[in-house]
Amino acid sequence: MVSLSDVVQQNKDYTLASWAAQSSWNPITMARAEGVYFWDHADKRFIDWSSQLMNVNVGHGHPHVIKAIQEQAAKVTYAYPGIATEARGRLGALLEEVTPPGLKKTFFTNAGAEAVENAMKLARLYTGRQKILTRYRSYHGATFGAMTAGGDPRRLANEPGVPWIVRLPDPYAYRSPVYRGLSEEEGDLAIADMIEEIVQMEGPENCAAIMWEGYSGSSGIIQPGAAFFTRLREICDRYGILLIIDEVMSGFGRTGEWFGIDHYPDVKVDIMTMAKGLTSGYVPLGATTVSEEIGAYFDDHVMWAGLTYSSHALGCATAIANIEVYRNEGLIDNAREMGKKLRQGLLDLAEQHPCIGEVRGTGLHQVIEIVKNRETREPMSAWNQPLTEAMATVASSLRADGMSTFVRWNWIFNCPPLILNDEQLQEGLDIIDNALNKIDKYYEG
Ligand SMILES: Cc1ncc(COP(=O)(O)O)c(C=O)c1O
Repeated sequence: MVSLSDVVQQNKDYTLASWAAQSSWNPITMARAEGVYFWDHADKRFIDWSSQLMNVNVGHGHPHVIKAIQEQAAKVTYAYPGIATEARGRLGALLEEVTPPGLKKTFFTNAGAEAVENAMKLARLYTGRQKILTRYRSYHGATFGAMTAGGDPRRLANEPGVPWIVRLPDPYAYRSPVYRGLSEEEGDLAIADMIEEIVQMEGPENCAAIMWEGYSGSSGIIQPGAAFFTRLREICDRYGILLIIDEVMSGFGRTGEWFGIDHYPDVKVDIMTMAKGLTSGYVPLGATTVSEEIGAYFDDHVMWAGLTYSSHALGCATAIANIEVYRNEGLIDNAREMGKKLRQGLLDLAEQHPCIGEVRGTGLHQVIEIVKNRETREPMSAWNQPLTEAMATVASSLRADGMSTFVRWNWIFNCPPLILNDEQLQEGLDIIDNALNKIDKYYEG
């Protein structure tokens, strides 16, 4: 087998790494992968505590998905998007079944950002309005429009971006000043009132859609409650604005429901975006699913959208196989049940480690926020700044102990594959416990 250092060196010499000054890129390698584990080129085993980019939901190397890919490749790998294929039609019908009521037709893309771009495009075409309203603490992808839409600081290097995005305040109960002296629900509703005011100031007649992650993801799993979503929908209805729900990360069982927005079953969705768990990353594919009304509008209006690889047959077959796995193996129920145990395990760790300021999320989609002091809530590493010594220690300890996950500022993400079992959960929690043991001394409470 090629050596670990050769693989790293060739990757560094001839490829560019995302979101990094290249000299600081010090990657783990992956030589093979199975279930919730992968192995590097020195045969060191890692537990995949983030499902790679929160996408390998069915786990690595699932035989049913691999077989579907092989069979599709042998039949038809690619047909241009003007041609109908069996896989595309079947997947469209399956998505109509699993997405919330009212959603019907799907436009297939290559990944999440393109699903978002096309959702925004279709919303603008359908409403004849320009502006898309999104929250600050969100991520919607790295293409130009999607990048501006996400408020996540990764957008800053490409500012000012597209001019028709309006940003909204966040329901961040743990840190937003809006919540001072209020219950979480009162704070959520105050944020919703601010959003309505922003809509009025922007001119509702200019606002095509509000776009919101079904369940907040890489910007910190910062999720409002049900009352907020009800108000958001009311605002959309009052002003004729569409609600785009981005399920790229939170879809396909990650939060213990098919979609993050399924936690709020009364909230009608006009357009939904998906990717990641749609294929568990085995083959790239994204999807933009629209309501029956929006679909019907394009019966006699041209849908000005297209991609060479739209509805890629291999991607569609892979997605069908994933949906079969979610259904046949009860993975969404498993995510819900294991999610409860994960939550309890993280709360138990918080008993041992006062530096855990908050545990957030649901299902296998949870984050812990590490603080210097529980009273002041001062983060152990400041938002959008390089990791402090303490958080760098956490990151290197997790890696040394054989865990692959994201440590972003003062957040540690806990998003393993949906096939996780009790033993693997405990293994992960023990690795985190060991990392936190090393930084208890930085706690200043
Ligand atoms: C909520 C959300 N939307 C969109 C995207 C972009 O997806 P992709 O990286 O596949 O373009 C992401 C990626 O993390 C995401 O989390």
